Amino acid sequence: MDADVIVVGGGVIGTAIAWRAATAGRDTVLLDPGEAAEKASEVAAGMLAPVSESVFGEENLLALNLRALDRFPSFAEELEAAAGFHVGLRTEGTLNVALDSGDLAALRRMGEFRRGIGLPAEEVTGRECRRLEPFLASNVAGGLLAKGDLSVDNRRYTRTLRAAAARAGVREMTGRATAIDGGTVHTPERTITAATVVAAPGNGVTRLDGIPGPVRKAIRPVKGQILRVRHPGTIPPVATRTIRAMVVGREAYLVPREDGEIVIGATQEERADRDITVGAVHDLLGDARAVLPAVSELILAETSVGLRPGSTDNGPVVGREGEDLIIAAGHFRNGILLSAVTADAVTALLDGKDPAPEWAPFTPGRFQ
Ligand code: GLY
Repeated sequence: MDADVIVVGGGVIGTAIAWRAATAGRDTVLLDPGEAAEKASEVAAGMLAPVSESVFGEENLLALNLRALDRFPSFAEELEAAAGFHVGLRTEGTLNVALDSGDLAALRRMGEFRRGIGLPAEEVTGRECRRLEPFLASNVAGGLLAKGDLSVDNRRYTRTLRAAAARAGVREMTGRATAIDGGTVHTPERTITAATVVAAPGNGVTRLDGIPGPVRKAIRPVKGQILRVRHPGTIPPVATRTIRAMVVGREAYLVPREDGEIVIGATQEERADRDITVGAVHDLLGDARAVLPAVSELILAETSVGLRPGSTDNGPVVGREGEDLIIAAGHFRNGILLSAVTADAVTALLDGKDPAPEWAPFTPGRFQ
């Protein structure tokens, strides 16, 4: 036996699980294919915004996301203490804005829904929106302020998780798992064994022998193109909180970082290529400028693309599949947000306990 636990997948989910497993005293191997550019968590915006990322009819996912939002700050605090770095957690909330009366009516309905389930969703006028965010477009008609939303610098967060995992004794190995067979993981180069294998390979789950067929079939890549812009030294920050809007029927978000970067996203495309297209960059920049015209003065620093691992019901897939296999997959648009509670759930499963009740609808068995 090479370890107590092998975690397959070195993205945010796998690394969070490995850190917690090692912290609990388990001899843990993290098997990482090593291609940073292929990880959805490197491309993500890092919004911790449960309501904005759920849609009507996804109440179970919303309940899980709310638990995740509640858990994230204490998890991040422990992580920062363990690694000695900051993850860039921001607490200014999200401002959803509407650019015309139709959007405003939809936003008001969303506000009623949120308040109806006890969430903070304060209606604000266009003038109040511009007081909160002075660089907003002059035609912003009104908004909805979600004070409880957070955001995190996804890249700092994953770097911090990796450092904490190493400090806790996680042994990182580079390799792409092709099959799991009992407690054995096969890569083209080696075979390693453990008491328990945790499969957290993102979209790689669809190509991993040993994962039940219905789970493999339930996951699909959903392409997201995303931009990063930065302030030149001469310009003060043009946004202080996450800003979201619908622009000509497209969802747009701008997520500011402490260091002056703003993440602008994102497309949602049912395809699996990694091409960055002229049309997507044009639309993302156009939508961002429609909401926050001062974006025109910023530096276009990066265009990137990721493949979100989405399941057929948009929910994650976390649970035991037999004696020696745990699956943690399908985190779709919520990988960063759900990382802490997924690590908690897998810790519970490793301890022979049930995860928190919010996980009950998200077992692998639901696809059988
Ligand atoms: N969570 C943001 C996105 O998936 O675009």
